[in-house]
Amino acid sequence: MAGVKMNIEVHENEINKQRQFMHKVKSMNELQGKQLFGYVDTYGCQQNESDSEKLRGMLTEMGYKITGDENKADIAILNTCAIRENAENRVLGNTGALIHTKKANRKQLIVFCGCLAGVPETVEKIKNSYHHVGLVFPPNNLWRFPELLHRSLTGKKRVFETECEETKIAEGIPLHRDGTIKAWLPVMYGCDNFCSYCIVPYVRGRERSRKRNAIIEEAETLVKSGYKDITLLGQNVNSYNDGETDFPSLIRMINDIEGDFLIRFMTSHPKDASLELFKAMAESEKAAKHIHLPFQAGSNRILKLMNRGYTQESYLEKITTARKLMPNIVITSDVIVGYPGETEDEFNETLKLVEKAQFDAMFTFIYSKRPGTAAAKQSDSLTREEKQVMFERLMDLQNEISDRKHEAYTGKEILVLVDGEAPGEEYPLKARTNGGRLVHLTGDPKQTGKFTKVKITHSNNWSLFGEVLHD
Ligand code: 5AD
Ligand code: SF4
Repeated sequence: MAGVKMNIEVHENEINKQRQFMHKVKSMNELQGKQLFGYVDTYGCQQNESDSEKLRGMLTEMGYKITGDENKADIAILNTCAIRENAENRVLGNTGALIHTKKANRKQLIVFCGCLAGVPETVEKIKNSYHHVGLVFPPNNLWRFPELLHRSLTGKKRVFETECEETKIAEGIPLHRDGTIKAWLPVMYGCDNFCSYCIVPYVRGRERSRKRNAIIEEAETLVKSGYKDITLLGQNVNSYNDGETDFPSLIRMINDIEGDFLIRFMTSHPKDASLELFKAMAESEKAAKHIHLPFQAGSNRILKLMNRGYTQESYLEKITTARKLMPNIVITSDVIVGYPGETEDEFNETLKLVEKAQFDAMFTFIYSKRPGTAAAKQSDSLTREEKQVMFERLMDLQNEISDRKHEAYTGKEILVLVDGEAPGEEYPLKARTNGGRLVHLTGDPKQTGKFTKVKITHSNNWSLFGEVLHD
């Protein structure tokens, strides 16, 4: 069928084999006669946060207690991110620092997984210079963690399981969710877009979608358990397709689940953000009126080099359509400055797009060369200082726009979901608007987890401030 991707599921027997390894590790651990601890440090995007919930789930199943203290940990896992060089440097710095915890506890197992474990150059570095790391596996081998851990604990050698036969979907992995109000719900994995600058398609493999029923069942369970804010996750959610259901239909189906909750999703690719998607959002009362729609660059030449599949004009048309259907929609975006060969005029096109688009918020990144990507072969003429100047000009422009957009909330009474606490602070509650803007609130902690009417009193360029109207 045209446009439908292969969605290969890991066979039940394979999942059962992992369950047996979980049993084996648990029994081995019990013989030690003391409580063992597992530590998971997560870097990068929500997909990684969600993967860490699976790592914690498997650890818990194997008898480990989750700790936030790496010194106490019998197993310390770094779930890493490869998106930009500074993310990589931070991870490697922290990996290096674990040499001290390992020295204090020779039996500690240090695990290096996540996207950086899918970058051959980084794996070589770990092999040669980070001898305290005992187990390495990339994201697509995550479901095999119990087997790999068992191999590490029973063997004498360091384990590098960096080959993945093919990219598959694994259902039935235990989960240890971090929160009780907001939940991640992965709907698809991988990416086939091959944007020229991006390492994700190389480290997370080909796109594949979970079966609709598995997603709906999980959503129903979340709603029954009291979760109020469900984020559908995928590197490119709009190309979700399990062979029967596309992404707009999936939103409508989740919207039909009874209960009081919000549906969010990320990340969207502009080329797949269709009229049908916007209609599904507009017509589904539980769909949050927010879209994060990275535009990356304003110049059509750069967009073409980036292999993005749209132009400045078609991007702006899409957001105009979205706003026609949902006048209050919050639109946020990502942009990269200093792509190889980007000229001053081309950068001005980016400024022009930002001016026209009037995003509520925008994340600005300086281009970072990633090994193996197409852009890494292109010559990069701008200096770091020149890129920094561009970065600041863009930030200044966006801050002005965000300031203005946020100011417009002042005096308004709106419904928010109180989703966090900041005890002892001037604003002890944290909340999100329907469109996902952060609100710092005064009010009673008993509002936590509830949709609550608040009055916005003031704002800055990043968040809103307000008070709960009635407790
Ligand atoms: N350099 C800089 N920014 C990047 N992003 C992805 N790859 C790179 C890179 N090589 C940004 C994009 C993407 C966001 C998650 O990270 O803007 O939308
Ligand atoms: Fe990277 Fe593009 Fe995939 Fe986003 S959609 S992860 S930018 S390749």
